[in-house]
Amino acid sequence: MSIALPPLPFARDALEPHMSAATLDFHHGKHHKAYVDKTNAKIKGTALAGKPLEDIVRAAKAQGDDELFNNSAQAWNHDFLWRSLSPNGGKSPTGKLKAKLDSAFGGLEGFQETFSKTAAEHFGSGWTWLCQKGDGLAIIATHDADTPIVHNGLRPLLTLDVWEHAYYLDYQNERPDYIDSFLKNTANWAFAAANLS
Ligand code: FE2
Repeated sequence: MSIALPPLPFARDALEPHMSAATLDFHHGKHHKAYVDKTNAKIKGTALAGKPLEDIVRAAKAQGDDELFNNSAQAWNHDFLWRSLSPNGGKSPTGKLKAKLDSAFGGLEGFQETFSKTAAEHFGSGWTWLCQKGDGLAIIATHDADTPIVHNGLRPLLTLDVWEHAYYLDYQNERPDYIDSFLKNTANWAFAAANLS
């Protein structure tokens, strides 16, 4: 059995004007789909066929299979990305997550500042993550396909893709504007809160 390309959790135009349907057509329909297809081609007829995607990512890492790791981790990261976005995003987190953000970053503004800086200064392709680390929170950057699920002690809560394919159609080379728009308009705090252990 193969892994599936999960449908977007919102309509393709639901994030406009912050993220266009055209971006989602390419990003979900072409880029994400290619990672899923390449993962399926690599696992076909192997012991990993039929396993959950997380297991495939971890096995590829353990086996040092870079091609399978890169494609399966990107499939997992993009699935997590779509759920990190919401047409009703960008509002203030509440409850336990708000308390943790206050404690780690001195509040939402402090979080936004650190997240923006980390995402904007990340060199080349990769991802910026808000993770739970023990009882606290941490913002981390990963390069290329790297993902917190293969790093002990990190539990991803929210992510932003900073590969150029994520923002070029809408923001050209202005990555900081794309990050700013995510934080103000589409960051899905309900999803992040639900990911807390
Ligand atoms: Fe991407």
